[in-house]
Amino acid sequence: MNQLHVGVIGLGFVGLPLSLSYAMKGAKVIGVDVLPRLVEELNQGISYHQEYDEGKPLAEILREELAKGNFRATTDYREAANEVNHYIVTVGIPVRNGDPDLSYLISAAESLSQVLKKGDLVVLRSTVVPGTTEEIFLPILEKSGLKAGVDFDLAYSSERIAEGRAFEEFRTMPLAVGGVTEASALRAKEFLSFVTEAEITLSSIKIVETAKVIENVQRDVNIAMVQEFARFAEGMGINTAELIRVANTHKRVNLLVPGPGVGGYCLPNAYYYLQPKAAEMGLRLGLLEMARQINDAVPGVLVTMMEEGLKKRGKGIREAKIAVLGLAMKDYSNDDRISPCHQVVSLLISKGAIVKAYDPAVPSRYPFKVDTLEEAADGADGLFFLAMQKAFEGIRWQELLGRMSENAVLVDAKNRIPYDLKAEVIRI
Ligand SMILES: NC(=O)c1ccc[n+]([C@@H]2O[C@H](COP(=O)([O-])OP(=O)(O)OC[C@H]3O[C@@H](n4cnc5c(N)ncnc54)[C@H](O)[C@@H]3O)[C@@H](O)[C@H]2O)c1
Repeated sequence: MNQLHVGVIGLGFVGLPLSLSYAMKGAKVIGVDVLPRLVEELNQGISYHQEYDEGKPLAEILREELAKGNFRATTDYREAANEVNHYIVTVGIPVRNGDPDLSYLISAAESLSQVLKKGDLVVLRSTVVPGTTEEIFLPILEKSGLKAGVDFDLAYSSERIAEGRAFEEFRTMPLAVGGVTEASALRAKEFLSFVTEAEITLSSIKIVETAKVIENVQRDVNIAMVQEFARFAEGMGINTAELIRVANTHKRVNLLVPGPGVGGYCLPNAYYYLQPKAAEMGLRLGLLEMARQINDAVPGVLVTMMEEGLKKRGKGIREAKIAVLGLAMKDYSNDDRISPCHQVVSLLISKGAIVKAYDPAVPSRYPFKVDTLEEAADGADGLFFLAMQKAFEGIRWQELLGRMSENAVLVDAKNRIPYDLKAEVIRI
């Protein structure tokens, strides 16, 4: 049987584990990224991603696949094009001041158009503003002189994995795919099923693009809803986690738990992917917009809780020493992009607090980041618990409390601080 040759464009949180998933199944994969340092590190077997396949860390899988010759990374599209005829594009569309920035996707499409060959298949898997595949991506690829659906196949299939479960979910998460022609869709389906064992539903490109965005938006709205329940519960003097636990005993109720806000690449961006199209159509998505505002406001709510807790103890936030445990955008992640924890830190700093944040899973360096739990806690007047990490599972809370200043204020956004701790804990 001929070996499958795959080019993955964009070697980030999605592209890297996806490349390795194809490589582990025996495909020959060339990953393309614009970051020379990343490419160099990957070719040396270095990666910081917190992904595991049945317990095996991603970096170990990377080294195995490099050694087998099934994976290598490059910055050179031409080098990839010489070997591959199946492409997956996984570059991101960041949102800046509420506007989706398509420049990475456009630049990837421009580069690909220069090396595209007759007979290639291109599957776009980035989360996009609905309509992007046909209205923006396709015309750029056709600058190659080749026609989509005639000379090369083009399809869109959304990516639905959750960071931290990538390897498992590439195999088990059902997918949807749409193609510029039925032949493109069917070819993409077969290509995707090389890794995905779950059902793959065929639909139109626009439906698959839009479905992905509304899947994310519904989580954003659900989280905003439980934030309002949490504020109500706090006012009532009842425990939010217990309230949700009881409500969820109803068979048709499935409330999420509130946290420090909504972070990461996917959920906070989702509304802004719908909004430009809605505006074009003269539509206002009021509920979705409000959910975004509610979730964006949560870090501010937490900081106010801290300020009020300190005030009760006769302290001000200015010059207060505040420990922050967790910077990742969600529990057990090394990804701190668009993390609400950063918003908490920024707000604290803007109010004159001295912040010492500790998150051993997040590799990025910041002036306020410290290397040990003790450094963060020593003499702290307040502590935020914002994201769970493996290293936090064994925290001896009473001991940690002993390092902090007397009567310290603890704000727990994850409901993780033990209930028997001899301290007053503000829980959300
Ligand atoms: N992270 C997730 O869990 C997740 C889940 C589902 C869907 N998605 C979607 O998948 C897409 C990728 O997300 P991610 O988290 O992997 O992003 P990422 O930022 O981690 O990775 C994107 C990579 O693309 C590279 N890149 C940018 N421009 C390029 C170009 N012109 N050519 C080649 N490489 C280029 C970047 O250097 C980066 O390494 C996004 O659309 C995101 O919304 C992400």
